[in-house]
Amino acid sequence: MSNKNATDKQGIIDGLNEDLAREYQAIIQYVVFSSSLKGAEYGDIAEELKLHASEELEHALEVAKQIDYLGGDPTVKSKEAGYSQDSKTMLEIDLKSEQETIRNYRDRIRQAESAGEYALSEKLRGIIAQEQDHEIDLKDALGLR
Ligand SMILES: [Fe+2]
Ligand SMILES: [Fe+2]
Repeated sequence: MSNKNATDKQGIIDGLNEDLAREYQAIIQYVVFSSSLKGAEYGDIAEELKLHASEELEHALEVAKQIDYLGGDPTVKSKEAGYSQDSKTMLEIDLKSEQETIRNYRDRIRQAESAGEYALSEKLRGIIAQEQDHEIDLKDALGLR
């Protein structure tokens, strides 16, 4: 392997580990917020957030597998989860996290494609489509659409 290839690969592994840490954070936030949202107006979104939690777990499993394929070690560290006692603030925290996640996956897709890792970029496109659905669900619940 040339030095450039090795550097590209290491950059992708490092980036994917940041993504994995964000997936852990998302799981924590969705588990906690789906069970503590208060108010009749948030009943539907609370159910939706439970589904998000399981999708984030699938993303974490997929990203960890991709890191392993590339010869890296999947991280055990989560990004710090946000918290609030206020239902609307919880949803705003989730929305901000999703938007940051989407930005980062876009970068990772570019990185993967410029390194010729097309199978990885395909997997990431599947994940980013779900993150975009999560963003829409949160915007709907917050009345932002
Ligand atoms: Fe995710
Ligand atoms: Fe998400």
